[in-house]
Amino acid sequence: MVLRVSAVATLLLACGGVPGAATTDCASCHAEVAAGFASSRHASAGTGVVYRALLGTRPASERPFCEGCHSRGGTGVTCADCHAAVGNEVTANGLLRVGAPELVGTSRAVTAPHQTEVRPFLSSSELCGTCHEVHGPAFFVETPFTEWSAGARAKTCAQCHFEARTHSLSGVHDPVPAVLTDAVSVALVPDGSELVLRLTSNVSGHAFPSGSTFARRVEVLVGSTVVNLDDRPLQAGETRAWRVAASSCVRATVRFWRYRPELLSSLGVALDNQPVTLTTASLGCGEEIAATAVAEP
Ligand code: HEC
Ligand code: HEC
Ligand code: HEC
Ligand code: HEC
Ligand code: HEC
Repeated sequence: MVLRVSAVATLLLACGGVPGAATTDCASCHAEVAAGFASSRHASAGTGVVYRALLGTRPASERPFCEGCHSRGGTGVTCADCHAAVGNEVTANGLLRVGAPELVGTSRAVTAPHQTEVRPFLSSSELCGTCHEVHGPAFFVETPFTEWSAGARAKTCAQCHFEARTHSLSGVHDPVPAVLTDAVSVALVPDGSELVLRLTSNVSGHAFPSGSTFARRVEVLVGSTVVNLDDRPLQAGETRAWRVAASSCVRATVRFWRYRPELLSSLGVALDNQPVTLTTASLGCGEEIAATAVAEP
């Protein structure tokens, strides 16, 4: 116990009174959390290959802004960003107010060898939204928090995306992204000599796609026609329809690209970028419309 207390005392001194500046200092006691966190996109938010490449194309004056969310502790988000946060300036642009004198948790009953404080901000969507809401420059516009605020708010960001015990995130970078399994429904409906393609978002937390929409692509292949949601994501629960010139014997395939292929080629980045097939619908020659859901990597 003496050892533990002195370990924390050293940690606090080393960080100049702001606990938790170094994620490695927490790992010695919170091994399970730290291991899960290390494999999350949060831990490597400053080292992602696409992030680094795009950062390199931006003016030097802009980079501190990017780094204010992506590499707060050098390589990524740190334990202290969330566990020493007391609130924010606004819920956007990384403007967290970090500097709680104790580590922020959820329970007063906990016996820890360091001081803990309970703050509802830790469990709030505002904590996540402080970074998951980007207002420019240029095409760096991300609005999950605004979209969430306008909706039913039945769940917080963390209830859909975050596992407290391990700090793993469920997102589009998972090898088989569970978040995408039931994200969208598709239907093909004959209408005279044309076909109507209907796409419905089943995502209730925000738009589809959301977050880094400048990088992602949702597209539907119908025969030789391709429609995509690049300029206008579906809002929560929204159904949108397109007329396509085909009558029967067609198949609609909805695909999700983590990265738009032309973004990677413009950056000169080569990485495995296979689209994920989300769902399909087919209209056979004179048959009924059939829709099937598939989730494949
Ligand atoms: C010397 C060991 C030790 C170190 C170092 C340490 N902790 Fe803890 N911490 C504990 C123990 C023991 C508990 C109580 C049991 C538990 O929740 O795991 C705890 C509890 C917590 C809680 C939970 C409070 C709650 O309400 O449930 C949080 C959050 C926390 N620590 C964060 C951190 C962070 C962030 C760091 C790094 C800055 C850190 N700890 C460093 C041992 C440590
Ligand atoms: C992106 C914000 C964020 C980061 C970064 C983060 N945490 Fe957490 N942490 C949370 C949230 C949110 C909870 C759960 C609060 C709740 O239950 O409502 C939590 C819970 C915890 C708990 C209690 C876990 C339990 O058993 O339920 C510990 C301990 C903890 N964090 C330690 C750490 C450590 C150590 C790090 C760095 C390796 C870290 N956290 C990084 C947001 C974060
Ligand atoms: C307010 C915080 C914030 C700022 C400022 C910010 N970003 Fe991000 N960025 C994020 C978040 C959060 C994500 C994850 C969103 C997602 O996965 O959909 C992200 C994702 C990205 C991605 C996609 C990463 C991948 O591999 O999937 C790139 C590239 C990126 N940002 C580049 C930048 C650049 C360059 C800047 C500066 C011009 C910048 N960001 C500024 C928060 C921010
Ligand atoms: C009801 C569950 C739910 C809630 C609440 C929710 N999300 Fe999502 N989120 C999803 C689903 C499903 C997807 C995948 C489909 C999509 O992109 O919309 C997703 C995708 C994302 C993505 C882009 C994909 C990625 O991993 O890069 C980000 C970023 C994101 N959510 C952040 C948030 C934030 C921040 C909040 C809170 C403001 C939030 N989410 C609230 C379910 C939810
Ligand atoms: C300090 C800023 C910051 C905070 C606070 C933050 N995030 Fe993130 N988050 C990021 C950045 C930056 C990325 C992009 C990492 C990348 O892909 O390079 C990201 C990525 C993600 C992803 C994408 C995972 C994937 O597979 O694509 C999810 C989901 C996510 N965060 C959820 C949350 C949730 C839930 C919270 C609140 C508990 C939260 N974030 C708080 C900065 C933050």
